Amino acid sequence: MSGSRPSGISWLGPSVFGLGQRALRRLDAETAHQLTIRTLQIGVFPRATEPDDPRLSQELWGLTFKNPIGMAAGFDKNAEVASQLIEMGFGFAEVGTITPRPQPGNPKPRLFRSERDGAVINRMGFNNEGHLPALERLRRDCAGVVGVNIGANKDSTDRVADYVKGIETLTDVAGYFTVNISSPNTPGLRDLQSPEALGELLGALNAARRPSEATGRVPPLLVKLAPDIEHAALPEIISVAQRGGIDGIVVTNTTLSREGLSDQDFAREAGGLSGAPLFARSTKFLAELYLLTEGKLPLIGVGGIVSGAKAVEKIEAGASLIQLYTGMVFKGPALLADIKRAILKRLDEGPQSTLQELVGVSATEWADRLPL
Ligand SMILES: Cc1cc2nc3c(=O)[nH]c(=O)nc-3n(C[C@H](O)[C@H](O)[C@H](O)COP(=O)(O)O)c2cc1C
Repeated sequence: MSGSRPSGISWLGPSVFGLGQRALRRLDAETAHQLTIRTLQIGVFPRATEPDDPRLSQELWGLTFKNPIGMAAGFDKNAEVASQLIEMGFGFAEVGTITPRPQPGNPKPRLFRSERDGAVINRMGFNNEGHLPALERLRRDCAGVVGVNIGANKDSTDRVADYVKGIETLTDVAGYFTVNISSPNTPGLRDLQSPEALGELLGALNAARRPSEATGRVPPLLVKLAPDIEHAALPEIISVAQRGGIDGIVVTNTTLSREGLSDQDFAREAGGLSGAPLFARSTKFLAELYLLTEGKLPLIGVGGIVSGAKAVEKIEAGASLIQLYTGMVFKGPALLADIKRAILKRLDEGPQSTLQELVGVSATEWADRLPL
């Protein structure tokens, strides 16, 4: 099967239905993904059997994370299975991207997997049911830390207003907000990363922020950046973001680069690349941000975490929390236990003995790597 054919994205299937990966791959990607979501909804999934080691736990922004591993945005676009993901062993889940109004996203096929490169290309285009269904679901069931990733509708005439609506509508159910200005699949969206546009956006968002009725706290505000930003532009972007009062950065979204791919049919698909080939690019970017912010701003490191070792590297490069999506597609839920084991082993080896001490120990080394 050609790597560039749309392929089944599902990691629960084999354990749940007794289907082999090969059988799953015969399903189209969307069907397999929906099946996975439904399977989680009906409660048929492997649960974490033991409580997490206390050394994996940390407090950030007044929230308690039982472990630093989150499900990245894009898996649970409609906030249907956040609690199940946490029950499975994730320390937190980020739902979305959610736009004010429902929208179908781009024409199918729009999801491609390359086994050979350990990578996914997607051009989903924010397919989602809109704010209200997500609000209702999270109101009913919001156990654990659930971040809400907000975006703008493709046909919006006022994108800033769409993000503001996200804050206004979803504050009571958001553990934190991620402002997604880095998807490559909504034309023009990444322009919001320019310092001027970002300053304006953050000004409008800050005016809309308020305490949650559920917790009495104002949900922290994070922005999610693309790994394709000109590195020379970073200091100004970060200074605007910090002046705009952000509480953290999610680093990074998918890349438009096709660096490191061997599967040429796959590489020709349009969209954002995730998985193993994104690791070095997103981790160097993370380390640069860690140094620019002098380690004072919590960063969520995401991109290419496909093993316990890569998760440890991500934390050492500067991530207080990590997220993954593509790694789960290829490795399944066993990856969660692998990552937890690898972090604890690293802490056992020392000299750092806490997660906080581990964050950023290799940032300088990573930032000094040659540009990709
Ligand atoms: C199928 C798919 C859909 C995604 N959708 C979103 C999205 O809606 N919003 C978002 O911020 N990121 C989205 N992402 C990006 C991921 O959250 C993550 O930043 C990226 O995949 C890199 O992590 P990974 O290499 O672990 O997959 C999506 C990724 C994939 C593979």
